[in-house]
Amino acid sequence: MFKKELIQLIIIIFLLTISCTSQSDGKSENIKETAVTSFSADRIHFGSKGNPLNGLIISWRGLNNSQHKIRWGYTDSYEKGIFSVSGKELLIGYAGQEISDGYLFNYTFPDNLKPESILYYSIYDGLNWCENNTFKTSKDPLSKNFTFLVGGDIQHNMDVWNYATNKIVNTYDDIDFILQTGDFVDNPYKIEQWNNIFKKGEVYLKKFLEYKTIGNHDLDGSNIFLEQFTMPENKKWWSFEFGDVLFINLLSNIDFYSSDGSEQSQQYQWLLKQLQNSTKKWKVVLFHRPFFCPDSYGEEMHPYFDTIWKAFDDYGVDVIFNGHMHYYMRTKPINRNISINSPVAKYGSNKDQGRLEIITGNMGSGDYDNKTNLQGFATPIPWYIEKGFMRVHYIKVAVEENKISIYALNRDNILFDEIVLEK
Ligand SMILES: [Fe+2]
Repeated sequence: MFKKELIQLIIIIFLLTISCTSQSDGKSENIKETAVTSFSADRIHFGSKGNPLNGLIISWRGLNNSQHKIRWGYTDSYEKGIFSVSGKELLIGYAGQEISDGYLFNYTFPDNLKPESILYYSIYDGLNWCENNTFKTSKDPLSKNFTFLVGGDIQHNMDVWNYATNKIVNTYDDIDFILQTGDFVDNPYKIEQWNNIFKKGEVYLKKFLEYKTIGNHDLDGSNIFLEQFTMPENKKWWSFEFGDVLFINLLSNIDFYSSDGSEQSQQYQWLLKQLQNSTKKWKVVLFHRPFFCPDSYGEEMHPYFDTIWKAFDDYGVDVIFNGHMHYYMRTKPINRNISINSPVAKYGSNKDQGRLEIITGNMGSGDYDNKTNLQGFATPIPWYIEKGFMRVHYIKVAVEENKISIYALNRDNILFDEIVLEK
């Protein structure tokens, strides 16, 4: 009798051991549960092919192409299982002089993730599992009340980037996503820059889902930016919906400037279709180069007043977020269908109302601060400027059913401009 019970006990222990190591993508696993001593995966960040709950992707870099894995779940038992992930080599450098920058690993979470939930995950680098990490999912994309941040142009000062992002990390636990206005890096050919920007923004990039637009510095003839980040559709121009808002991103770089116009035409036709087909109450557009800014750069977009900007006026775009200029600037209501040299009375999407353009381009591109309104801007101040501040900053946007509240905050979360749109 005792012998029989002993055999049963041994069988139970064996089965329990198997069940602890085999919750995988169909394969039995035998992975060391060692403490992390020399974990070789870094640059963890999130993107999405769609809205924040459908198409969410986690990406990281490994130093070699060993078999990486991810385990995840809604509890720290990682009940969704263990999944193998293949790496793709990152090559950085000028054509013919590229050197390996390790391997990029992407894992796509299944669609319809639970809203406002903690995802527990851990990454296996071929030798060790990293410590437990968490990521909070967004609200249900059908929710008409949600919050997002906007900011961009990092490029130069990594201490500023580190300070500003840590402040944001410590301030917000309820942000649904972030829009990045471009010029993430200054020179995409330099590994050192990629290392610095990921290292100094490590906690921020691990905490928030960021949708990016592409700045002139990000591409600069290199594909490394497109390879490294996930964005919806073709990455260059994309859209997604959240609540009653249509978000559109454009590429204001090379594809606007193709000599035969074909790329511009392709993007323009796509833009028209997005605006024509949308029944959303609010329309928000993101791209890097602004149409309205008081510097010589401001004329870069003027050839597209009669196509791209006219589409904004014709279809009543509510807000346009840009970067490129290393300051904050907010325009008066602009509707070029009514006037090309004076503002209209109100922001809004009615035929007699105008667009709100906001330039938000300093999360590291400059270390200046505390300038007063329009201090440092060239005079005379153009007719379209309502506010302008040269300072490190970001934007917080709170969307409700009938209003969008926009707050401009400096690196210490001090509010310096505010505007509410209602309809
Ligand atoms: Fe730029």
